[in-house]
Amino acid sequence: MAAIPPLQTVVLDRASDAPTLTSAINIGAFNFGNPLAAWLAGAAIGAGFGYASANIVGAMMTAAGLALAYATLRLDARERRHIWSPHNASHYRNARENPMSTTLPLASQNILIIGGARDIGFAIANAIHEAGATPVIGARDLVKAREAAERIPGARAVSIDITNEDSIVRALDEVGPLDHIVTTASAHHNVPVSQLDHDHVVSAFEAKVIGPMVLAKHAAKTLRPDGSLLLFSGVAAWNPSPGYAVMGITNGAVTYAVTHLAKELAPIRVNAISPGIIDSGSWDAMGDNAKHEFLEDSGRATLVGRVGRNDDIARAVLWLLEGSFVTGETIHVDGGARIA
Ligand SMILES: NC(=O)c1ccc[n+]([C@@H]2O[C@H](COP(=O)([O-])OP(=O)(O)OC[C@H]3O[C@@H](n4cnc5c(N)ncnc54)[C@H](OP(=O)(O)O)[C@@H]3O)[C@@H](O)[C@H]2O)c1
Repeated sequence: MAAIPPLQTVVLDRASDAPTLTSAINIGAFNFGNPLAAWLAGAAIGAGFGYASANIVGAMMTAAGLALAYATLRLDARERRHIWSPHNASHYRNARENPMSTTLPLASQNILIIGGARDIGFAIANAIHEAGATPVIGARDLVKAREAAERIPGARAVSIDITNEDSIVRALDEVGPLDHIVTTASAHHNVPVSQLDHDHVVSAFEAKVIGPMVLAKHAAKTLRPDGSLLLFSGVAAWNPSPGYAVMGITNGAVTYAVTHLAKELAPIRVNAISPGIIDSGSWDAMGDNAKHEFLEDSGRATLVGRVGRNDDIARAVLWLLEGSFVTGETIHVDGGARIA
């Protein structure tokens, strides 16, 4: 029988509890849009109350049912997906069963990690898998993305270049609804100011600042309302050092970006992590000796006496993705290097 509005709410609630998308749709369709059932019920009610034409009541019930079905279909696409998505059913259940909970468990969520094929990004993808979610590994090179995804059970792969808007749109379209997006992409131009190259400066800003802004533009349409976008800043922003102006300035800009984006994209959360020096793999290019010396010095320049590990960052990422009351923030995971 066609639902009346208060019942509609109950129906949505029941549908959100359905174990599969199909059964959710069935529950909704039966209650919203089954004109035959509505007509029969209306006719029966009409006859029961002794109306001259039970058909008129049946027709009215059918019209009401169809109107409700139409209104439901016109729900904002994101809201609709939010209601019908089976994995969101578990979120609703969690919220109902744990009303005091301030976190949203990542289990069965879809999380895109741009830069996820190696180093910190790959560690994040692994941690996301261990948390029960599905990592979608994004890399410029699809082969690298696929190779990385093959090393994590259930992981997916997509080609994405964060400096290219078409590539962002294509990738988001391909991967479908997402709960969170993390981007670790960066491009380095570590030279003294006197040697700056205009195009390399632009590339650095594109990878860390402009790309994530364009990503936010499109991700806002695809992310769940209680999902989040996580950017990467870095300790260089707070420790000015000759030769690292581009790194410092781009990382600093990320911190401002998350405050502005968080306000405009709310309730979607936008945060950043600012790592200290991490033995992520990205320093390997220095060669063994130089890298060892650099990491020793960097460890001494922290309050905890060591450089970071990929796992230090991955654990902070999980906390931020789950932390439903944190937005617009930059979390420093640097062993105190910023204030040492
Ligand atoms: N490691 C540290 O000590 C440290 C310190 C402070 C801050 N951070 C920040 O933490 C983040 C991760 O660090 P990391 O050490 O893992 O860095 P990384 O080794 O340089 O990794 C960067 C990742 O971004 C990808 N990438 C670069 N440009 C891209 C683009 N245009 N589109 C899509 N992906 C792109 C790279 O993929 P490709 O394989 O395609 O190049 C790579 O997977 C970076 O933002 C970095 O600035 C790191």
